[in-house]
Amino acid sequence: MFLLDHPEVRQCTPWSDKALKKTVDEWIAIAGLTQSSRVLDIGCGYGLFTIEIARRGHFAVGVEYAEGVFLDMARKLSAEAGVKVKWVGDRFPCEVGEEFDLVCIINNLSLWKRPLEIIEEIKHRLKREGFLITGCSSQFCSFPEYRTGPWIVRGDGSIIDTRTGKGIRLKDAWMKETVKRTHTSLEQVLHEAGFIIIATNPWLVGKVPAEQNII
Ligand SMILES: C[S@@+](CC[C@H](N)C(=O)[O-])C[C@H]1O[C@@H](n2cnc3c(N)ncnc32)[C@H](O)[C@@H]1O
Repeated sequence: MFLLDHPEVRQCTPWSDKALKKTVDEWIAIAGLTQSSRVLDIGCGYGLFTIEIARRGHFAVGVEYAEGVFLDMARKLSAEAGVKVKWVGDRFPCEVGEEFDLVCIINNLSLWKRPLEIIEEIKHRLKREGFLITGCSSQFCSFPEYRTGPWIVRGDGSIIDTRTGKGIRLKDAWMKETVKRTHTSLEQVLHEAGFIIIATNPWLVGKVPAEQNII
């Protein structure tokens, strides 16, 4: 069964399997992952991205504090997919391991309310030349009228539905503004923290430079 065929999961996300797989393939290509690569997915929810990453042979860790709501389902989905993932039921920053090649932090505006702290914690866990990918997609899926998607929120705050390639007009302008502000300020903070910004649309991608010492 495809991950997204689970009724419980289907209710909560606009992602299609095709779009999910395409997105994960994109991230893997951006980060140049190899079979021995290590990936951390922070605030992984149902672990949709984590499982797709692990399915491609990478060592994947998914951290999520909502055990009963999300992580139990993530465990069930990975078991059904026959994929090995290290699930951590805790609130990041916490013990998740280190030396990651890629850290994903997707649809997690709440974590980005303390960007400096979180970015420093991520940096400690990234390899030199490791990547951080962040961004928003299904941020608005809890509103039934918006259940189209998956959506990709671009750095300028515009939103496209990846199924149609068309823009979405949000009724809630403040949401769009929040996402846009977060994207812009994160870009700034990543830059200040010494990351090289290698992409801003649709994902914000930062890379730790080779020569930088990670404390
Ligand atoms: C909007 S969901 C996104 C889930 C997933 N990344 C996705 O895009 O499908 C945000 C998730 O992050 C989790 N979360 C928020 N803050 C967290 C933290 N400090 N540590 C671990 N999980 C966190 C929430 O419980 C929630 O499941």
